[in-house]
Amino acid sequence: MEAEGMLHIKNFYFNALHECCSVAWDDSGECVVIDPGFYTPEERDELKRFIGEKGLKPVRILLTHAHFDHVFGLKECAQMLGVPVCMDPADRPTLENAGYFCTMFGFDTPDVDVPTEDIRDGDVIRFGKTELEVIATPGHTPGGVCFFDRADKILFSGDTLFAGSIGRTDHPGGDYDRLMESILTRLMPLDGDVTVIPGHGPRTTIADESAKNPFLQPYNDPYEDDPDAEGIVPDTDSGLGGNAGLSGNIGEGEEREA
Ligand SMILES: [Fe+2]
Repeated sequence: MEAEGMLHIKNFYFNALHECCSVAWDDSGECVVIDPGFYTPEERDELKRFIGEKGLKPVRILLTHAHFDHVFGLKECAQMLGVPVCMDPADRPTLENAGYFCTMFGFDTPDVDVPTEDIRDGDVIRFGKTELEVIATPGHTPGGVCFFDRADKILFSGDTLFAGSIGRTDHPGGDYDRLMESILTRLMPLDGDVTVIPGHGPRTTIADESAKNPFLQPYNDPYEDDPDAEGIVPDTDSGLGGNAGLSGNIGEGEEREA
């Protein structure tokens, strides 16, 4: 899809991890490139050709975060387009550690010696008639942010929120509690009809994730609020009963531990 309201968006899925790079522009022709993760010359040329054929005028490169798969093409893109790179400075260590991940995942390490302009929570990035609000959503990385076009109800969520999932937090700098707080306090309050464009995978909406994302559902203990249910033990033979693995074991003859 390339158009929603005033904002036009083209998504590219670059590199072996299918990282979602977005070009976003409005009728002024000015555009931003979000997360230039192209890895091959062919991918680079695809992006360059698109911008050229559309006659767009790039004004900024924006990073939702600095993981390697989102910055493979960063330096080349910055040189190619001649525009500043904007990033939350808390992700500077993430950017500088890109080689760690590349070694782990078997990729060539990109040159990430790129000057960046600091962006922080509450900043507004303007191009043409468009305003993108910076929403800090640390957790997947320390400096992770989302970009929100409030007028067009578009959220670029990076690797903070996916369709049916959330960003992993087991890499250096990841913090599960911070990620959950970011999602629940900063993203879920947005209108349900906001379109979410994640850093990987398909688009979704805030309403769909609020209703269906298994990582965002409250954990309901079926026995917690029902005094009549005391002493009832789940049918552990059925494979369906109980909730072992989530809150601890519940089995026949055992007291439930808080
Ligand atoms: Fe990431």
